[in-house]
Amino acid sequence: MLNIKGKLFLAPMAGFTDRTFRSLCGKFGADVTITEMVSAKAITMGSQKTKELISFSEEEKIKGVQVFGSDPHVMAEAVKIIQDEFEYDFIDINMGCPVPKVVKSGEGSALMKNPSLAAKIVEEVTKVSRKPVSVKIRKGFDEENINAPEFAYIMQESGASFVTVHGRTRTQMYSGKADWEIIRKVKERVKIPVIANGDIVDFESAKRAYEVTRADSIMIGRAALGNPWLFLQIKEGFKKGYVETKVLPHMKIRVAIEFFTQLCSEKGEKMAVLEARKHLSFFVKGIENAAKIRDKINRMNNAEKLLEFLEELESMLEKKESFVDNIL
Ligand SMILES: Cc1cc2nc3c(=O)[nH]c(=O)nc-3n(C[C@H](O)[C@H](O)[C@H](O)COP(=O)(O)O)c2cc1C
Repeated sequence: MLNIKGKLFLAPMAGFTDRTFRSLCGKFGADVTITEMVSAKAITMGSQKTKELISFSEEEKIKGVQVFGSDPHVMAEAVKIIQDEFEYDFIDINMGCPVPKVVKSGEGSALMKNPSLAAKIVEEVTKVSRKPVSVKIRKGFDEENINAPEFAYIMQESGASFVTVHGRTRTQMYSGKADWEIIRKVKERVKIPVIANGDIVDFESAKRAYEVTRADSIMIGRAALGNPWLFLQIKEGFKKGYVETKVLPHMKIRVAIEFFTQLCSEKGEKMAVLEARKHLSFFVKGIENAAKIRDKINRMNNAEKLLEFLEELESMLEKKESFVDNIL
């Protein structure tokens, strides 16, 4: 039996939560990590590139594979392939993605407008899956169609083992405030565990999210970017009632260096330099002259030089020297 209660989830984020980043978050205390969404159709067509998104590291504890699609049989077929080839703990079905291309194909959040098709997907997938199947949903498609509680109930009756709720509608995308009250309504409607998601950024908001939603676990997305020790701080907060651990700028860069080094060994230097840019821009957030540092990083094409730059930056931040004139 999979115990997913009282856990800290790292949210699936396409383009960000690859194995290297998930591994880092696992190391810093994320209990559950999930791949970015993978296309069921691409899996059934044998896409090697898609399959590469499904690989886990030793630092990850409870591991989920997130699948998206709209054809129940293709989804089931994809899950059969995935379970024959990979080791993981649960399958998560994406019913929240707001991207126009995905919605137009009736996938992601579009499924919230089509509960009978969504139910069929969960039924077909649970029929073939040897592992638990969860569903990740939103508050509703738009303000006129707020149906998370009823929709979650249908998912439960179709065989879902737990449900994650992002408290925004599809129309809101990632703007506005996540509605935690709707998550509480979902919790009141279903028996399966509920994971609360949206706008959890620190220990205080994590605590409030539990209080307001009464959810079984919480999931963190954007706040973890460039900030993997957030998981550790939240756990510390729940243990002691307050957070003592402070992350100083040079420590941030030290972890960024570790991340980049790992990325180089997993993806090769050329790819790592390009992929590291978006992550590094989050790692330097809040550091003096962040904009200039980002600009410099984004213009670098060589892994060795980038590493050298980050090491210099770390050393100057540690000595609290003004690095502006020296290295920028
Ligand atoms: C860049 C980005 C990519 C995302 N990709 C996915 C995805 O592949 N699958 C998914 O279910 N949600 C995806 N999400 C949504 C997050 O999982 C999460 O629900 C959302 O960011 C709200 O949580 P937060 O306020 O903690 O960030 C993505 C979000 C962002 C910002």
